[in-house]
Amino acid sequence: MNAAIAPPAESGRTARYAQIVRLSKKSEWQIDRDLLQDRNFDFSRKFLPDGLSRVDMLPFLNPKDARLLSQIQGRTYAYIFGLVERFISAKMLDQGRAHALEDQHALEALVRFTNDEIKHQELFRRMEEMVGEQMPAGYRQMANPDDVARAVLAASTWAVLALTCHIELFVQSHYVESIHTTEDLCPLFKDVFKYHWKDESQHVVLDEIEWKDEHARLTPEQRDQAVNDLIALVGAVDGILQAQSVADAEYFVRNASREYSDGEIADIQSVVLGAYRWQYIITGVRHPHFVKLLSSMTTPAQIARIQAALAPIMAG
Ligand SMILES: [Fe+2]
Ligand SMILES: [Fe+2]
Repeated sequence: MNAAIAPPAESGRTARYAQIVRLSKKSEWQIDRDLLQDRNFDFSRKFLPDGLSRVDMLPFLNPKDARLLSQIQGRTYAYIFGLVERFISAKMLDQGRAHALEDQHALEALVRFTNDEIKHQELFRRMEEMVGEQMPAGYRQMANPDDVARAVLAASTWAVLALTCHIELFVQSHYVESIHTTEDLCPLFKDVFKYHWKDESQHVVLDEIEWKDEHARLTPEQRDQAVNDLIALVGAVDGILQAQSVADAEYFVRNASREYSDGEIADIQSVVLGAYRWQYIITGVRHPHFVKLLSSMTTPAQIARIQAALAPIMAG
């Protein structure tokens, strides 16, 4: 028998990818059939729990306004995921291409991952339309997904995979620790992020494999540059959060049930920025598994550089 055409023995690695594909097929869901089902968002309830929105840190808000601020942040929550999924899907398409002529289970796992993110973007676009119909005009999205994706994808693959892994890990903690455990949120909002979480908990397994593989391919100098790229990417995310928090606080103040003093408006702006930094940066970089992965792929000097760059954001 010609050894060149003998089927390769299934390695542990291939078996792992095959298992990811099996799980992905088993838990596959559709936007209309399984999730939306002609339902709508319930504006008599909060969307994001206080543990993420931090509206409970503004004691001068009446319950109606606290609910409105939670709904505005929930609308932005869906928008920000749709935004980051543009670069995540593009990156996973590239990562999958690299497996196209080798491990077919790896290829399928990454194609399915890409497909999930395309589906999530459709879900979040439709959510924005549904929520937009029920809320006053004037809500603004401050960053364009394609512009952000172009900028992110110019960074080293190591940094993009690290950022992706960080995002997909904080999805886990947000759902499990806050959204799932908070009673009395809008049921459809809760379900959207339950279905999203189901897919994301599978994606993190692939993020880790891809990130570690990329790490193994790089020289120490390339790794050092990748750490600089990661710091720049987190800084860029923070720039988006700053702009969006100002827009969302303004939109809230214009549509709230009463007028707020300048001091109260300053408090609202700072709590919203703090909430966005908490949601999209701090809960990720403090996630125990992210800490473990990042420490295993960086030197103490690189970790110190990352910590110094993050200090102003973590304090905010
Ligand atoms: Fe997603
Ligand atoms: Fe994902």
